[in-house]
Amino acid sequence: MSKVTVIGAGNVGATVANVLAHKDIVNEVVLVDIVGDLARGKALDTWQQAPIDNYSTRLIGTSDYKDTKNSDIIVITAGIPRKPGMSRDDLISTNANIVTSVVKSVLEHSKNPIIIVVSNPLDVMTYAAFKAAGLKSTRVFGMAGILDTARYRAFLASELNVSPKDIQAILMGGHGDTMVPLPRYTTVSGIPVTELVKPKVLDAIVERTKAGGGELVKLMGTSAWYAPGAAAAQMVESIVKNENRIYPVCAQLNGQYGLKDIFVGVPVKLGKNGIEKIIELKLNKAETKLLHESAAAVKEVMEVFDKM
Ligand code: APR
Repeated sequence: MSKVTVIGAGNVGATVANVLAHKDIVNEVVLVDIVGDLARGKALDTWQQAPIDNYSTRLIGTSDYKDTKNSDIIVITAGIPRKPGMSRDDLISTNANIVTSVVKSVLEHSKNPIIIVVSNPLDVMTYAAFKAAGLKSTRVFGMAGILDTARYRAFLASELNVSPKDIQAILMGGHGDTMVPLPRYTTVSGIPVTELVKPKVLDAIVERTKAGGGELVKLMGTSAWYAPGAAAAQMVESIVKNENRIYPVCAQLNGQYGLKDIFVGVPVKLGKNGIEKIIELKLNKAETKLLHESAAAVKEVMEVFDKM
């Protein structure tokens, strides 16, 4: 009995809607874009796929926030990509304005939704959404960790020539080159990855993961959408089905890991209330140092936003 609104009907937003429809777990997905016909077209296309792929999820495309009324979950993918000549700060300000206005419009029609932010730069956009929403921080969080972990798992699966299904891993920190993949918490069907992959190879995979987004931008001239869209849909699934799955999510920390008032990737339990619990791993000294360095990088960007 759920209604999910996806803001932004670009590559990522349309993928979230399409993957979600295929899961057949919510009644309605509303796709919103300032370019209304784009949202209407992509929603109609996914609805026309329903008889072929056997799902009942209704798809609505719109530019009118009235159609988002009483949404349980809002996924925000609206924003612009960085363009040549644009500074990082310009991108922060443009996308923060978009995210802030989207959150305000959404909350005029839905009282206490769960908000999942996908727009980049992710950690600070999640912070911007949280500030604009005035909801509990357990209800406003960002998608990055599932995607980054998936990239790490996929690279490991290629290296080991095993199914990616069998690679379990966790990754923490900001969504950028300071992210912290954690080999000590990476297993292949329960076997510690360190027993299967040489340290040098593992290091190279960790480095490739950190630059995983950039690798795709180089290949395609724009940022990725299939894995990001599927990752956001997986978060929605855990919430809608109250699965309590444990995923790395960009969440507000209030003392956990020795960090406060910051949005950064940590493992959480995701259920019907959003973040049901932040899991505190017993990180060793080196891991803690990397996490704190990543948090410091995120904090810098948050401060840029605060000064705007
Ligand atoms: N309200 C609604 N939609 C908006 C708004 C707004 N205020 N501003 C922009 N949009 C829409 C655009 O019209 C566009 O259709 O957001 C969409 C963004 O789509 P793309 O440009 O295709 O970008 P996409 O690849 O989907 O990425 C979206 O997700 O992963 C992140 O880095 C990525 O920040 C980017 C976001």
